[in-house]
Amino acid sequence: MIIREAKFLMSNSRVDQCPAPTLPEYAFIGRSNVGKSSLINMLTGQKGLAKTSSLPGKTQLINHFLINENWYLVDLPGYGYAKVSKDSRATWGKMINFYLRNRENLACVFVLIDSRHAPLAPDLEFMEMLGAGGIPFVMVFTKADKQSSSKTQQNISAYLQKMQQTWDELPRHFISSAEEKTGRGELLGFIDEINR
Ligand code: GTP
Ligand code: MG
Repeated sequence: MIIREAKFLMSNSRVDQCPAPTLPEYAFIGRSNVGKSSLINMLTGQKGLAKTSSLPGKTQLINHFLINENWYLVDLPGYGYAKVSKDSRATWGKMINFYLRNRENLACVFVLIDSRHAPLAPDLEFMEMLGAGGIPFVMVFTKADKQSSSKTQQNISAYLQKMQQTWDELPRHFISSAEEKTGRGELLGFIDEINR
């Protein structure tokens, strides 16, 4: 798929103020600092489109980007960032939960996972929650440029093995690097498949 146009539409804390749910949308979620906003910039080819930071907790609202006037990419705040106050974390948690369960045009959630780590409980728990809620998702293992591909594969296998213990069918997974543009074709191809 070719991205002809990508534009920022709006930021919201409330689902009922998000754009009318008339176009399919794809939401990016994962632990703070995993690279959600960077991946949106890599996919759209616009470096400053979604705001990124080396410090976790940068994205705090539901951000809609309109792609080719035809579908949305959504950048969400991360989960699991300890330095955010308890109150803010609870507010984000509620907002994200409500969004995931009530956004009727949500075509697929991309759960971003840092490919440098062995399976982490917050990521496994988050995916369990999505599965239990019947919310469609795929996994994206980010920052693959940070280590050898064999190490990345080792960590992915460990995740899949863990998940196999509780899941009948494993979700699809992708590998990405915003730095080296790895995974761009695969991810856009996947979105294209669903949009058709
Ligand atoms: P929050 O909005 O705080 O939840 O973070 P986020 O998940 O949106 O992460 P963001 O895209 O802001 O990136 C966090 C940091 O990781 C930044 O310093 C990025 O430059 C860096 N980063 C993101 N993706 C990659 C990647 O694929 N490779 C490398 N080497 N660094 C990356
Ligand atoms: Mg972000």
